[in-house]
Amino acid sequence: MRRPSALGALLAGLLGATLVAGPLTAPATAAPRVPDPTTSTLRQLAAHTGMRVGTAVDTSALANDATYRAAVGAEFDTVTPENVMKWEVVEPEQGRFDFTQADTLVAFARAHKQKVRGHTLVWHSQLPAWLTSRSWTAAELRPVLREHILTEVGHFRGRIWAWDVVNEAFNEDGSLRDTIWLQVLGPSYIADAFRWAHQADPKAILFYNDFNIEGVNPKSDAVFALLTQLRRQGVPVQAVGAQGHLDTQFPIPTGIVQNLRRFADAGMDSAITEADVRSVLPVDATESAAQSAGYSAMLQGCLLVRRCLSFTVWGFTDKYQWVPSVFAGEGSAALWDENFQPKPAYDQVRIDLALAPSGRPRA
Ligand code: XIL
Repeated sequence: MRRPSALGALLAGLLGATLVAGPLTAPATAAPRVPDPTTSTLRQLAAHTGMRVGTAVDTSALANDATYRAAVGAEFDTVTPENVMKWEVVEPEQGRFDFTQADTLVAFARAHKQKVRGHTLVWHSQLPAWLTSRSWTAAELRPVLREHILTEVGHFRGRIWAWDVVNEAFNEDGSLRDTIWLQVLGPSYIADAFRWAHQADPKAILFYNDFNIEGVNPKSDAVFALLTQLRRQGVPVQAVGAQGHLDTQFPIPTGIVQNLRRFADAGMDSAITEADVRSVLPVDATESAAQSAGYSAMLQGCLLVRRCLSFTVWGFTDKYQWVPSVFAGEGSAALWDENFQPKPAYDQVRIDLALAPSGRPRA
C-alpha cells in the first residue's frame, strides 16, 4: 500500500526536520519518532499518537485474497469482524454455536499483534430465523439473550479488546428503536446485556455503538443521557462508539469534538468504529475532496479527545465494501479503490496522523 507521490514533497515541507529526521539533540524525555508519512503504513503513523487505527475485516476476502490479507496486516493495529461475530453466524440454531470464522480472524489478529473489536452482541439486524420467526414472552427471551452473550463473550474471554455490546438501539429523534428486544423485554435489556457481557469478560471494554451520533444532535443526546444514567446505576458500560457512516451528499456532522469530549468528561472512552464516506456514483473531484474532509473530520475529532481510543474504517477497499449493496447508486466509500489504489482520502489520513502531536491531548 505504498505509493511514492507528490505528497512526499508536501509533507517534507510541512513536517520539517524535527519530525522526519528527529531533533539534533535528544530532549530530556524522548518523544516517540514519527515515521516518514510518505512510505509508512497507517498503523506505523498512528503509533506515536496512542490512538489505534483499525478496519472491519471481510473474512472470506481475508482467506482468498492475498493482497487484501497483506494490507490488513500491514496497515492496521485493530480489526473488527464485519459479519462473523453476529448472531446469525455464531448461533445459527438455538444453542448451537459456531465460532469457526471468528476464531480465524482472532488468530490472524494475534499473529499480527492487532487488537480485536468484538461486533456485535445485541442488535435488531442479522438475527437468525429461529429467533425472529416466532413470538416470545419475556420469560422465554431473556434467558436466550443471556445465554447468547455469556457463551459468545465467554468463548473469546481475554482475547477481545472491546465489545460493541448493544448496537443501534436508538431512533434519530432519541427514542428507543422498536426492536424485538424492546418489544419483548422492555428497555432493561440494555442494562442486562452490559451486565452479562461484563460477567463473561470483566476486562473487555464495553461499548454502546450507533450511527449518526458523531456530532451533537438529539440521538447522541439520548445516548449520552442513557449511558450516564446507566453508569450512575452501576451498569458496566465504559464507552461509546460512533459508527461514522458519512455521505458526501450531506454536511459533515457538527460538534464531533464537543460530543466525544462530553463522554470523556463523564468518564467514558469512545471510538470511531465504522468510518466510511460514500457518494453518488460516479464520483467527481468535488466529492473526492468532500470524502477526504469527512474522513479527516472524524479522525481529527478522535485525535483531539484523549479518551477516543481508536479510529476504525468499515472496510478499507471498495473491492469489498458494503455501501453499494445497501445504498442504491452509491459507493466509493473506502480509502482505497477496487484495485487497492489509495485515494486522496488515504493521503489525508496519513497527513492527519503524521501531523498529530505525539501522545494524546490532556482532555
Ligand atoms: C454491515 C456489513 O458491512 C454488511 O456486509 C452486512 O451485509 C450488513 O451489515 N452498522 C453496523 C454494521 O453496525 O454491522 C453493518 O455492517 C453496517 C452498519
